[in-house]
Amino acid sequence: MHEISTKIDILRDEFQYLHEYNPIEHVSSRVKTPDSIVDKVVRKGIDPDFASIRSHITDIAGIRITTSFTADAYRLFDLLTTQPDISVLRVKDYISHPKPNGYKSLHAIVQVPVFLSTGPIEVPVEVQFRTIAMDFWASLEHKIYYKYQQQVPGDLLAELKDAADSAALLDERMERLHREMHGGTREIESTRILAV
Ligand code: GTP
Ligand code: MG
Repeated sequence: MHEISTKIDILRDEFQYLHEYNPIEHVSSRVKTPDSIVDKVVRKGIDPDFASIRSHITDIAGIRITTSFTADAYRLFDLLTTQPDISVLRVKDYISHPKPNGYKSLHAIVQVPVFLSTGPIEVPVEVQFRTIAMDFWASLEHKIYYKYQQQVPGDLLAELKDAADSAALLDERMERLHREMHGGTREIESTRILAV
């Protein structure tokens, strides 16, 4: 988690420096608690030994990167996953293929080497990229879902999906406004080059 956070910090600083633009709204990280690991082992019928848990549960370390716009989510995903010490184990693009409930986010399970006193080990980390609007919806959906103890009435489900669609429209609108005001990063770059 530290390794990935540092990479994200460096990308953010570099972006700010080169483009005078920060694509990241916030970054949060969490380590899955032992209780929640045990729950998942039971829920998914995983053999409860360390080797099996290590190979089946790849979200013990998790990082969530909340970006300003959808394009930023993909851009950061590319910048992170093309780094030579990162290997990508799995990608789920719920932005281009939202879940039926409306959930949107770009998920990647990546592996990063961590250097311990006993030598390097490859550690999987789940990285989620999403915009503030997607994050807003997902955080509240999570609360609502848990409050109803996994039995959400049908009309509420439809409303949640409708709310996700509104969030997606807001994302599109804000991104368009941003483009109209500032142009893309490429335009910023070429203006800079002309100015030099
Ligand atoms: P888990 O067993 O929950 O890890 O799911 P998975 O292995 O099928 O992975 P997936 O990539 O689908 O989801 C991983 C994580 O994404 C979850 O732990 C949540 O943090 C988030 N997530 C996935 N679906 C939803 C959703 O419908 N609503 C919300 N709020 N979060 C979701
Ligand atoms: Mg999970």
